[in-house]
Amino acid sequence: MHRRHFLMGTGAAVAAAPLSGLLGHLVGTGSALASSPKAPMAVALGPRQILSLNRGWRFHEGDIPFPELLSHEETYENAKAGISFGAASPAYDDTGWAAVELPHDFVSFQRHSEKANVSQGYRPRGYAWYRTTLRFDESDRGRHIELQLDGISTYATIWFNGTLVRRSWSGYSAVNIDLTPFITYGNAGNSLVVRVDAQSMEGWWYEGGGIYRNVRIVKRAPVHIATDGVSAHPVKQGDGWTIPLTVQVNSSAKRTMPVRLTAELTGPDGKIVARSEATGSITDFDSITLSAPMQLASPQLWSLEQPALYTVTTRLWENGALTDEGTTEIGFRTQRFDAEKGFFLNDRPVKLKGVCIHQDHAGVGTAIPYGLLEFRLRRLKELGCNAIRCSHNAQDPAFYRLCDRLGLLVMDENRCFNPSPDQMAQLEWLVRAHRNHPSIILWSVFNEEPMQGTEAGYEMVMRMADVVRELDPTRPVTAAMNGGLFTKINVSQAVDVVGFNYQPKDYDAFHKANPSKPMLSSEDTSAFSTRGEFITDKERHIASSYDDEAAPWGATHRKAWKEIATRDFVAGGFVWTGFDYHGEPTPHTWPSNSSFFGIMDLCGFEKTAFHIHQAQWVDDRPVLAIAPHWNWPGKEGQPIRVMVMSNAEEVELRLNGKSLGRQKGDRLEMNWFQVPYQPGKLEALGFTGGMPVAKAVVETTGPAKALRLVADRKQLAGDGIDAQPIRVEVVDGAGRVVPDAKPMIRFAIVDGRIIGLGNGDPNSIEPEKGDRRSAFNGLAQVIVQSNAGTSGTLRLSAEADGLKPAKLTIEIKPDLGPAYQPVFERNIFTLGRWRVSPWSATPLDPTAGLADNDMNSWSPYRSGSLLPAPDREVYVMCAITIEPYAGIQKAGGTLVFDKVTGAVEVFANGRRIGGRTEATAAPLSLDLPPATGKQKIAVLFRVQPGQQYGLEGAVRIL
Ligand code: GAL
Repeated sequence: MHRRHFLMGTGAAVAAAPLSGLLGHLVGTGSALASSPKAPMAVALGPRQILSLNRGWRFHEGDIPFPELLSHEETYENAKAGISFGAASPAYDDTGWAAVELPHDFVSFQRHSEKANVSQGYRPRGYAWYRTTLRFDESDRGRHIELQLDGISTYATIWFNGTLVRRSWSGYSAVNIDLTPFITYGNAGNSLVVRVDAQSMEGWWYEGGGIYRNVRIVKRAPVHIATDGVSAHPVKQGDGWTIPLTVQVNSSAKRTMPVRLTAELTGPDGKIVARSEATGSITDFDSITLSAPMQLASPQLWSLEQPALYTVTTRLWENGALTDEGTTEIGFRTQRFDAEKGFFLNDRPVKLKGVCIHQDHAGVGTAIPYGLLEFRLRRLKELGCNAIRCSHNAQDPAFYRLCDRLGLLVMDENRCFNPSPDQMAQLEWLVRAHRNHPSIILWSVFNEEPMQGTEAGYEMVMRMADVVRELDPTRPVTAAMNGGLFTKINVSQAVDVVGFNYQPKDYDAFHKANPSKPMLSSEDTSAFSTRGEFITDKERHIASSYDDEAAPWGATHRKAWKEIATRDFVAGGFVWTGFDYHGEPTPHTWPSNSSFFGIMDLCGFEKTAFHIHQAQWVDDRPVLAIAPHWNWPGKEGQPIRVMVMSNAEEVELRLNGKSLGRQKGDRLEMNWFQVPYQPGKLEALGFTGGMPVAKAVVETTGPAKALRLVADRKQLAGDGIDAQPIRVEVVDGAGRVVPDAKPMIRFAIVDGRIIGLGNGDPNSIEPEKGDRRSAFNGLAQVIVQSNAGTSGTLRLSAEADGLKPAKLTIEIKPDLGPAYQPVFERNIFTLGRWRVSPWSATPLDPTAGLADNDMNSWSPYRSGSLLPAPDREVYVMCAITIEPYAGIQKAGGTLVFDKVTGAVEVFANGRRIGGRTEATAAPLSLDLPPATGKQKIAVLFRVQPGQQYGLEGAVRIL
C-alpha cells in the first residue's frame, strides 16, 4: 500500500461507533443497523462493522456526456458487466475534481437566479457526478459488504467497478446495494461512481441536489440480519405486552447453514428484562424469517412526556459463534383513532397538535448535520407541538430516532402515489425501515392527488394500503386529501383514517356522512407572515405577523386551529408549516425565494405564530408573549394593535407601568388591545387562579450598538460532523435586540468552520455560504461545524460597521466520531481488463492487434488471478489498451505490478520498457514513458510446462 494515496485507512479496523448519542445516525439506519461491534473480530466474519463513507469523495458539478461509441469492440464491451464508459468508468480521470465530504447538497451552493424554478427556490439544479475509490482489505474477503446511501436527490445512477449496480428513482428513499460480488480485495481500488440527476424534480419545494444524506459501508457475515429486517414493534395483549419479534436472515453463504437467533430486551435502565430465541436453517443465497416473540408484563410506557425506550438486541449464532448482532430501539405504547373522540395514546386522549415540515434549513439546504436537526426538533417541542407530518416524503433516519427520543408523534409519508413495482418498492422500504419507531402513528400513502375522488384512485390506494398493512398491521393508513371526499367511490373508503388538507367546511358534513370513519386535518393553515414585520406590504413582499394573512385555500393560525380544537372527532391537525423552507415563496415570486408559511422562519427563529401556537397548545407551563415590538417612532399617540398570546386565565397589559385593562384569556383568538403608542415598556401579565403566573415585556430600544452571539449548545464534538446554529443578535446599548436592525455582519472562525448562513428573510438573495450575512430584523444565524480530530476551543467572531463586535467560544470535546471506510485519496489508474492470447510456440508481436470485431480469438482476462499451466513451453501475451490520465500522458508514470508470476517482457506501444527473467511471483515496477492518447500495454510471458503464471496482483500506474 502506497501510504500517500491512502486516506482514512489508519483507524481501527473495527468500528467503535456509539450506540446512541450524537453520531449514532451516521453509523446506523435505525432498526437492524443501529449497533456496532464491541469486541474485536475474535470470531471469524463476526460482528458487523459499520463504516462511514462520508469522506474521500470527488465531485464534479454539471453533467459529463457519455462518449459516443463507434467501434464494435467498444459497443460489445458496453453491454458487459464490469465495463462502463466516460465518467462512469473506473479509469476516468477525475484528478481535477473537488474533494467533498458528505452530506453534500450542491444546490445549496448555487446563487439564486430568476431564471431558475420558483418552487425550488430559484436555485439552478442540474446534474452532478461523485466518485470515490474504496479499498477492501484481504481480510474483508468472505464478508457480506453492503453500501448504504440514505438519500440522493433527485435520481441517481450508481456504478461499482464499472458495473451499473442501481438506478435510484427516489430522492428520499435509502439505496442499499450488495457490493460483495463486485469487490476487488487488496491494493486495487474499487471505483464507486454516482451520477446525480437533480434536474428532475419530485416535489414542488426545495429538494436540494446530490448525496445529501449519510453513506456507509456495512460489513457482515454471509449469514446475517437483513437490512431493515427486524420487526419489533410491541403490541398490548390483555394485561401484558408482546413483542412479535421477527428477524429476516439473509445468506450469501455457499452452503446450507443452521442458524440460531437470540434476542434480548434491555430496559431504559440498562437491565435485561426479557429474552427469546429461535432456530432455523438457511440455504445458500436464501432469506428466511425467524420468529422469536418476547413477553413483558408491565413495561415503562413510551409517552410524549416520558419517551421510555427499550432496546432489542438480536444476535445470530452459528455453531456457538456469534456471526451478527444488531440493536433496535422500541417503545411500548398503544394507539387508537376513534371516530368520535379522536386519537388516544396509551388510552389517553391526545389532540394532535402537529406541524408539516420539509427537511431543509437556512445555509445548508438539505444537507442537515445531526446537531442542526436536533435543534429543529427541540424547537418544535418548545413550540408545544406533539406531532410532525413528514411532508411529503421520508426524512433522514436520524429524524425518526430523535422523534422517538424527544417524544414526538410522526405521520410518515410516502412520496409517489403509484402502485407500480418501482414505486411500491419505495413504499415497502418506507414501512420496513421505519416500522419500529414508537413515534410513528400513521402511514400516509399520498398528499393531494388529483385521482383521489376516482375509482382508479381508490383501487390504487387499496393496493398500497395492503402492502403497508402486510408489513405493519398496527398503524392505520391515511392519505392527505384535498377533495374528492364525497364522490361515490373515493380514496377515503380505502384508508383507515381520512386526512383532510384544508376544507374545514367539510369536517361536519363528512363526519355526519361517515360517522365511523376517524379523521384528522393532515394539513391546514397556510398562513403568511414575515418575522418581525407587522404591516403587510405586497409591493415589498412582506406579510404582517398579526396572523391576518393566509392563502385563499388556507386560514389564519387561529382560525384553522379553532376549527380543529372545537371538534373532538377531528383528531388534530398539522399546520402548514413548522418552519419556512426554501422554495414555494407563495404568494410572491422573485426575488422571494423561501416560503412565508412557517411558524418559525428558515433559521428556526420564532415568528408571532410561535407564541400563538404555544398559547393554544402548551398546557404544562405558563405561556405569555406580546406582539408587536415597541419601536414605532413617529407614531406617538396613534393606536397600535397589540396581541397578547397566553394560556393564562386572565391577561393584563400595562404601558409604562399603567394598566390598560385585564381580559379573560382567549387561547383560540388571543387577546387584543389598542394601545396609543408611547415609547417605553409594554408589559403583559398572566394570571391563573387569580395569581400572577407569567410576565412578558417588550421595550422600545435604542439604536443598534453591538452584536451578540448566542450558542445553541456550549460544546461541540470534535469529530468534524457535529454542528450547531449560532444566533446573531443586533442589540442596543442596554443589550435589547433591535427589532428592525439589518446591518451586514462579517464572521471569522478559528478551529471550526462555517457551513451556512441565514437570516430568515424570504426575500433575500444573498448567498447562504461564505463569511458574511446581513441581519434581518435584528437577527442572523451562522451554522458552525467542528473540524475533524480537534479538541479545544472554537472561536467565532462577528463584526459590522459601527457596531461593537462580538466573540463566542465553544468547547470542542475530543471525539473520534465514527470509523471510516478506507478510501484512496485519489483515483489510481488501474489496468484490470486484459485480453490474453492463445499459447504460441514463438514470441508474439507486441504491436499486433486484433480485428475490431474479433471478440474471441484472445480471451478476456482480469488481473488478480493465475492462468492455467501449459503442457509445453509456450509464449502467452496479455494485452490492454489504456488511455492514462492527462498527467501521466504528459509526464509518464510508474507501471506497478503488485505481483506478477512468470518471466515477462513488458511493452508500451510496442517498445520494451522492462521485464524479469525469474519464473517466481514478485512485484515489478517499470517506468512508463510519456505518450499522448491511447497506449497498448503488452506483457509477454514465457511459460514452462506445468507452470502457472499471470498478473496475480493489481496492476496500476502511479
Ligand atoms: C398544499 C400542499 C403543500 C403546500 C401547501 C401550500 O396544497 O400540500 O405541499 O404546497 O399547499 O399552501
